Amino acid sequence: MQLMDRFRATAVGRSLFRSPDRVTERDRAAGHWANFLLHIYPVKVHRREIEFRYSWYLGVASAVLFGSLVASGIYLMFFYVPSPASAYGNIQAIQTEVAFGQFVRNVHRWSANLMVIAVAAHMARVFYRGAYKPPREFNWVIGVVLLVLTLLLSFTGYLLPWDQLAYWAVTVGTSMADFVPFIGGTTREMLLGGDQVGSATLLRFYVLHVAVLPAALVAVLAIHLWRWRKDSMLDDGEG
Ligand code: HEM
Repeated sequence: MQLMDRFRATAVGRSLFRSPDRVTERDRAAGHWANFLLHIYPVKVHRREIEFRYSWYLGVASAVLFGSLVASGIYLMFFYVPSPASAYGNIQAIQTEVAFGQFVRNVHRWSANLMVIAVAAHMARVFYRGAYKPPREFNWVIGVVLLVLTLLLSFTGYLLPWDQLAYWAVTVGTSMADFVPFIGGTTREMLLGGDQVGSATLLRFYVLHVAVLPAALVAVLAIHLWRWRKDSMLDDGEG
């Protein structure tokens, strides 16, 4: 600790830690304001609000899993080309030749499955605790959008290994879309880029999977977390 105090007294330390030593309540509040990570919470929150048993941290778990998916996904992108000629071979190479390839691919797959479970469990927790009630009803709607985005990420990722399982799962999935009244046919064609799963489908799913859907999820998640802070902390204590 003394070492830390000496570091804080240096020019570098002072530029990193801008708040005063945390002696009084006012110092602590100033430290909180100055901290990028802590400022998701207001300076004062109900102790209950951050207890584990209150939320089981399931929303936090979903967000952490999403972070793991982004990190492992970026690594996989270095070794994967979304074309029917190379996709299957790239995955084989990731499994056998790429440094940490098999490990990172497994992290990606496990995180994907766990994220779907965590998001569903988070939604169930919100439902059973009645945490969707006013003033949080808007955040429930935002949550539904997050659920749909999570499932779409899962579905688009499923095609990328370009094996039999992927091919037929997406054939079945997109055929199901065809049954939706009015917009079904167009949706199916837009997803496939033709009348059956082919190179256009692989490219479309890839772009959706690595760019469009993650960007949308980050944007919607930012609104979700902002509403969480606004609606849940230092309110009347309900929910
Ligand atoms: C990508 C998926 C999602 C992520 C990363 C996420 C993240 C979070 C986080 C970090 C919280 C703070 C409290 C907690 O841990 O429970 C939260 C609260 C909340 N979430 Fe989500 N969420 C997701 C999906 C959903 C879904 C599917 C719903 C419901 C349809 C939902 C509804 C809510 C509501 C109503 C709150 C406020 C609950 C309260 O204040 O007690 N979220 N979310």
